[in-house]
Amino acid sequence: MAVRFDIITIFPGMFSSVVSESIVGRAVKSGLVEINRVDLRDFTEDKHRSVDDRPYGGGPGMVFKPEPVFDAVENVLGEVGSSAEPGIRKIILTPQGRRLDQPLMRELSGESRIVLLCGHYEGFDHRIVEGLGFEEVSIGDYVLSGGELPAMVLIDGVVRLLPGALGHPESSEQESFENGVLDFPQYTRPPEYRGMKVPEVLLSGNHAEIEQWRHERALERTRASRGDLLEKLELQETGQELDNT
Ligand code: ADE
Repeated sequence: MAVRFDIITIFPGMFSSVVSESIVGRAVKSGLVEINRVDLRDFTEDKHRSVDDRPYGGGPGMVFKPEPVFDAVENVLGEVGSSAEPGIRKIILTPQGRRLDQPLMRELSGESRIVLLCGHYEGFDHRIVEGLGFEEVSIGDYVLSGGELPAMVLIDGVVRLLPGALGHPESSEQESFENGVLDFPQYTRPPEYRGMKVPEVLLSGNHAEIEQWRHERALERTRASRGDLLEKLELQETGQELDNT
């Protein structure tokens, strides 16, 4: 199923490489994905084309004004701009949002239309969230200078899950986070390089042992760098056991 992204941004040029290179570029060329870039400044009416203003209540920085954003969203979505419609998601990229993870990427890959609003400065007039039904999404616990890079991260993560976007459809099902753990280490030829050998089991052709080895290494890696994922997995498993009793 094809997905259309509408990106509302004050820096539409930043997306040029993402829409033309790699997996996303190929998906755009093949018609699997449509990416529409909307310059927020086209929806301003003053001669400085200003999209921001000082915050009520004082404080440093500037805040995105509601008028250009409402006009841009309504221009992109028409009548449905301010209501919740099935198949349409409206997302603001902001550090205040729900954390973007693989389950959310999967969920979004089932939508037909995703409107992305890229923030800047000290954020948005909150009426944009309330009045247009935007959900806030963050790509991690750090602050970037704008929502453009996070929007690119989201687009890339969603597009590669669309059937037909990757060379091998199963490649996205066997990778980190899909089963709640990180990916196992991979090796390719040569069997020995600078004294470092590929683990014997991978050369053995014994698929059951290879599976077992990969499973153990995946758990080991996850324990070493992402103990939180294992805790989540254990909680889910205990939850399932409780459900079954
Ligand atoms: N804008 C600035 N920082 C961000 C983050 N971590 N996630 C999403 N949008 C952002």
